[in-house]
Amino acid sequence: MASFSASLLQPQHPTPAKSSDVSLQSPLLYRTNLPFRSLDGFRFLRNGSVSTNRIDAFTHRAQAVIDSGVEISDVPILTASEVVERLRSSRENSKGKQEFLAMYSSVVGGITTDPAAMVIPMDDHMVHRGHGVFDTAAIMDGHLYELDQHLDRILRSASMAKITLPFDRETIRNILIQTVSASRCQKGSLRYWLSVGPGDFQLSPSSGCHQPALYAIVIQDQSPFDSKGVRVVTSSIPIKPPQFATMKSVNYLPNVLSKMEAEEKGAFAAIWLDEDGFIAEGPNMNVGFVTKEKELLMPRFDKILSGCTAKRVLTLAEGLVREGKLGSVTVRDVSVEEGKQADEMMLIGSGILVRPVVQWDEQVIGDGKEGPISQALLNLILDDMKSGPPTVRVAVP
Ligand SMILES: Cc1ncc(COP(=O)(O)O)c(C=O)c1O
Repeated sequence: MASFSASLLQPQHPTPAKSSDVSLQSPLLYRTNLPFRSLDGFRFLRNGSVSTNRIDAFTHRAQAVIDSGVEISDVPILTASEVVERLRSSRENSKGKQEFLAMYSSVVGGITTDPAAMVIPMDDHMVHRGHGVFDTAAIMDGHLYELDQHLDRILRSASMAKITLPFDRETIRNILIQTVSASRCQKGSLRYWLSVGPGDFQLSPSSGCHQPALYAIVIQDQSPFDSKGVRVVTSSIPIKPPQFATMKSVNYLPNVLSKMEAEEKGAFAAIWLDEDGFIAEGPNMNVGFVTKEKELLMPRFDKILSGCTAKRVLTLAEGLVREGKLGSVTVRDVSVEEGKQADEMMLIGSGILVRPVVQWDEQVIGDGKEGPISQALLNLILDDMKSGPPTVRVAVP
């Protein structure tokens, strides 16, 4: 006990401790796996101005820890501004390809462009119960693509998840556009969530959640859409039942595991089959086929997510029918055998647009190369994003 107290008190020494110091070798004081140890650690180590109360508190805690045999760690207690500071350095240290330009939160009632402040409350039921729905819209040349189609879908999802709206549709739409405007983003995506809201840690929102929430974030992504053919596998992760697959809720664990399964097998995505064995969808994309008879074929949307991109592809494909490049466009049940025998297979979604598939499991699709119809559909969608009608392009002021 004596040596333990001494090691706790030792860091009050004004000179910085060396790694050879006994105190740093103690598991009680030196935990290399704790983030920010070097930034703050035991704050009283540095300035020596901590009150005796605090030291006593630590000593008592240490005694309790020794008694219980559990290891103590140097977790600092932070002020709100220290938390924000640490969030900022954490963001800066983990900068990826995507940049977060602006976030709206109805909890604070405004937009921030500081990534360190882009947080949501822990007691929001969307965080700890998955009681939230979300949607997206691509940003291209300062325009939101298919915003209204995605908005309609998130409102449908919210209704299915029994989430009342924090604002009416028009207000939500205006907030989303204003958030993109504040971000000055030209190319990237807008993601937004409707949540039953913060309140408590119960299961039902009925007693604690008094105000549903809207969150939105603008993500800059300058990478071009890839048209290189990919490989897919059949997912062994069970598909969500139709009630949940048709709703875009935040419960994406099956989708995540399905995508990870694909990656583990060196593939781009895993394809779900429905309970009758028909082709369903990918983890965040729909699928389409071009048969030998030049029919564009897509699985029905009644048990899967009704993809906004897939629906738009079906409309734009009519142009290829008029040009004679396609014979027809059909939505119906598609068997695995029919899918694997198709001339072309493609993945369709707002994140990838149209991505040709050249192999599914062991089966090479068509001649194993990216098909001309997939390429034509990708070009049609890209043109639509850049110069489509106002029904699919909303200018951001
Ligand atoms: C499960 C699932 N299916 C299909 C899609 C494609 O939908 P959209 O084209 O609207 O992006 C998504 C999109 O995220 C999805 O999550």
